[in-house]
Amino acid sequence: MKDLCGRQVDYLRISITDLCNYRCQYCMPPDGVQKGPHGAVLTPEEYAEIARAAVSLGVKKLRLTGGEPLVRRGLLDICRLLRAIPGVEELCLTTNGSLLPDLAAPLRQAGVDRLNVSLDTLRPDRFAAMTRRGELGDVLRGLEAAEAAGFDRLKLNCVLIGGFNDDEVGNFLALTREKPWEVRFIELMPMGPCAHWESSRFLSCDTILDRFPQLEPLPSQGVARRYQLPGAAGTVGLISPLSHEFCAQCRRIRLTADGHLKGCLHSAEELPLRGLHGDALVDALRQGILQKPAGHHLDRRPSDTPRDMNQIGG
Ligand code: 5AD
Ligand code: SF4
Repeated sequence: MKDLCGRQVDYLRISITDLCNYRCQYCMPPDGVQKGPHGAVLTPEEYAEIARAAVSLGVKKLRLTGGEPLVRRGLLDICRLLRAIPGVEELCLTTNGSLLPDLAAPLRQAGVDRLNVSLDTLRPDRFAAMTRRGELGDVLRGLEAAEAAGFDRLKLNCVLIGGFNDDEVGNFLALTREKPWEVRFIELMPMGPCAHWESSRFLSCDTILDRFPQLEPLPSQGVARRYQLPGAAGTVGLISPLSHEFCAQCRRIRLTADGHLKGCLHSAEELPLRGLHGDALVDALRQGILQKPAGHHLDRRPSDTPRDMNQIGG
């Protein structure tokens, strides 16, 4: 169905845990998740019930996020239940990739269609510093395992951070020459731990176009502007929540791990869905879609959401 701004909402992102095995500096506090006022995570059946209601209102695509979805117990059950819902055309998952060496093949068997892997640097020292506990090699092996399991159109999400990884853009672009992947650069959004970082950390994706004029434009896809190096196997996506009017293209709603519907990542508004069933659940979802905020205010102030990114799922 359409929201009050005329946007066709057909995409539900479901966070299945706030927890993560990494502590990325822009996302999580160093000591991990503080237990907030929010309740326990939903059961696999509860996610499926909400997803079924959302599908009855026109949702066609589901994405599992976290925290890190691969640390969630019952992950494969959740995938199987969601993929079996009639009307679900695509089940996607966003992961930090570290547990893919063991889980890529089971995820494929459980019905996951596509994977996005977050990777902000290709340098082991920087990777360890950013994630505070991760090893780049795990993610690189995870990418290989994903390819071997049949995930052939992988997307790599790289958050562009001034003074941290802006000197690696060329190396990321080079990956697309050989690999049929989409490397997506995402502007850092001021929320949670990075809400008050200095302004030099926040770069516009347009700096990439200035530095690499050889990038040839392709048709946009959702919120991503897309490009390609001449002759490359893969593509490049620029996701610019800050520097470009992005919200008009946003077709998504979000479910938090503890069962709250969010129309926008950056809004403080949330609708509790836990305990609702049947028509009451569908009505609440309809209400949430209608009330999806027209846009965010990140050009003027940090995100309004009281949750950190690990509690919403990107
Ligand atoms: N700004 C932009 N992207 C972010 N992510 C997490 N926090 C932020 C932020 N403040 C990204 C992660 C992951 C995706 C789920 O969201 O790196 O790729
Ligand atoms: Fe974990 Fe992703 Fe947050 Fe990093 S960005 S701490 S990998 S949830």
